[in-house]
Amino acid sequence: MSRSNAVKKPDQVSITPQRMGFDFDGAPRYWCRNDPVLTHFLNALSLTFPDGERFFVDAVRAFRDTVTDPERQKEISGFIGQEAMHSLEHDTFNQMLASQGYQEEAEGGQKLARYLINEGRKRLSKEQQLAATAALEHITAILANRLLKDPSLLADMHPSVRQLWMWHAIEEIEHKAVAYDLYQDVVGSYRMRVRTLLAATLALGSYTSKYTWAFLKKDGMHRRPLVLARGLWRLFGINGVLTRTLPDFVSFLRPDFHPWQEDNSALIEAWRAQLSALEHEQDATADATA
Ligand SMILES: [Fe+2]
Ligand SMILES: [Fe+2]
Repeated sequence: MSRSNAVKKPDQVSITPQRMGFDFDGAPRYWCRNDPVLTHFLNALSLTFPDGERFFVDAVRAFRDTVTDPERQKEISGFIGQEAMHSLEHDTFNQMLASQGYQEEAEGGQKLARYLINEGRKRLSKEQQLAATAALEHITAILANRLLKDPSLLADMHPSVRQLWMWHAIEEIEHKAVAYDLYQDVVGSYRMRVRTLLAATLALGSYTSKYTWAFLKKDGMHRRPLVLARGLWRLFGINGVLTRTLPDFVSFLRPDFHPWQEDNSALIEAWRAQLSALEHEQDATADATA
């Protein structure tokens, strides 16, 4: 079995892990667009990340010995390192949610995510776990692409959390093909790839709906029809965040799909520059107040 085609990661894209050490001090309750639904949708996603990304790492690790190309081995190491860092930073983010008063939701959500992931580890073959990783990596990459393509989304995030989502989105795009390439190499089944994407979308969709609702309920926002309608429109309306990922989502169904057929390397390069500008700004402020 071999890769579906010759598309490769652009040379200028490097997959380099970076520990950020965020603290999220001063994050307001509705940190995204001051919108409870958008904020809690992203909060619910964050609850899945620490355990979810450890699952991805293990699924890829299980097959890394089959890769002989040193360049690909380097990509896999970069992927493992980046996902490990995402797990750590989202752990801190989830603790921040607990300290905002969402302890029950944050703990319950992470517990359920861990349970579902452990079931996946027990019930799925190693090949199916790799297929699930490739599918969920596709979903995270297209969400990341949307976040970076619509600058107003990041601009409307509170500065205390903006860097986390910016940094995570950039890295999801940088390593978007690592699990996919490995899957194509060692499994390659089109049917399994598509079936798993549909199952993974259903599972993630149900989970995030459940926990977005749990967070909203905690605030009493579930009884505010206008808040709910506005938030749902922002996610699923004509120009909704999720609606606009649809063309990218279905591209995965093409038999000759490859993540780098969409070359968004210029997009992440531009955002990398913004991220380091922000880091320098913070270092300068820290020096000035020291
Ligand atoms: Fe990640
Ligand atoms: Fe990832």
